[in-house]
Amino acid sequence: MSHILGIGIATLDRVFVVERFPTEDAEMRALDHRARPGGNAANSLGVLAQLGHRCDLLAVLAAGADGARIGEALAARGIDSSACPRRPGAAPTSCVLLAQDTGSRTIVHHRDLPELDFEDFARLPIERYDWLHFEGRNVAVTRRMLQQARRRLTDQPLSLEVEKEREDIDTLLPLADVLMFSAAFARGRGFDDPATFLPAMRRRAPRAILTCTWGEAGAWALSADDRSLHAPAFAPPAVVDTLGAGDCFNAGLIDALISGRTLDEALDRACRLAGRKVGQMGLDGLTDPPSTRA
Ligand code: FRU
Repeated sequence: MSHILGIGIATLDRVFVVERFPTEDAEMRALDHRARPGGNAANSLGVLAQLGHRCDLLAVLAAGADGARIGEALAARGIDSSACPRRPGAAPTSCVLLAQDTGSRTIVHHRDLPELDFEDFARLPIERYDWLHFEGRNVAVTRRMLQQARRRLTDQPLSLEVEKEREDIDTLLPLADVLMFSAAFARGRGFDDPATFLPAMRRRAPRAILTCTWGEAGAWALSADDRSLHAPAFAPPAVVDTLGAGDCFNAGLIDALISGRTLDEALDRACRLAGRKVGQMGLDGLTDPPSTRA
């Protein structure tokens, strides 16, 4: 078991399952509705906790009942949120439409809560962790956190999720050991092929492991010594819920690498886990044997 710190956000996700994505100004009935905790780092930690790791989250929680509810939901997933600062504001909330016909997940996110301060991170005894995983957001502060982690830590890997384009995000790339890019980010940079995108990012992170997920095509990686790897996606019998599949892939990758597996194995296991997640609702029960799952 490893001790992992995730740095990012925690949200309340309101997930509506619909037959198909609505047309504008339509009124439609949802087939299902779930409220569950979300946020990329929180989602990845929830999966890592299922895989047997001890997981702590650093994210701002809203002071008051809504933030307390998210804290309780995180605890139920095995995530320790005692390091999370509580600040006045609204709990970040996502309205998510899961379209059954295409498998798309459309997210409308509302945020009215301050981001983390550098001091929230600086006061943590980060030496106690085996791995630190950062969301690529709040760039100026995250850069300072990564720089400090680099100064204070010697052996612990630092991973960085790069999901969305943000101003100056490239300044974070040389600071991490493992970079997890999304297909949307690669496409936004003008690439339609992860096998060419990753080598193009190499000059920004000369020594890191680089990965990029590509939906049904699987995932690609570039090892620190520039071997290009690919693992196929593992399609579930039916696409049920794609929300958080990337977060699940990241958790699978961290789990495998921290357990000493090769990058080839890690990529394969991360794709299997993400595939299994897409075939079920939510992120719970991912490591249960299939026969015991509801
Ligand atoms: C999924 C997710 C949701 C959250 C949203 C935040 O990756 O983390 O749980 O609502 O993205 O952008």
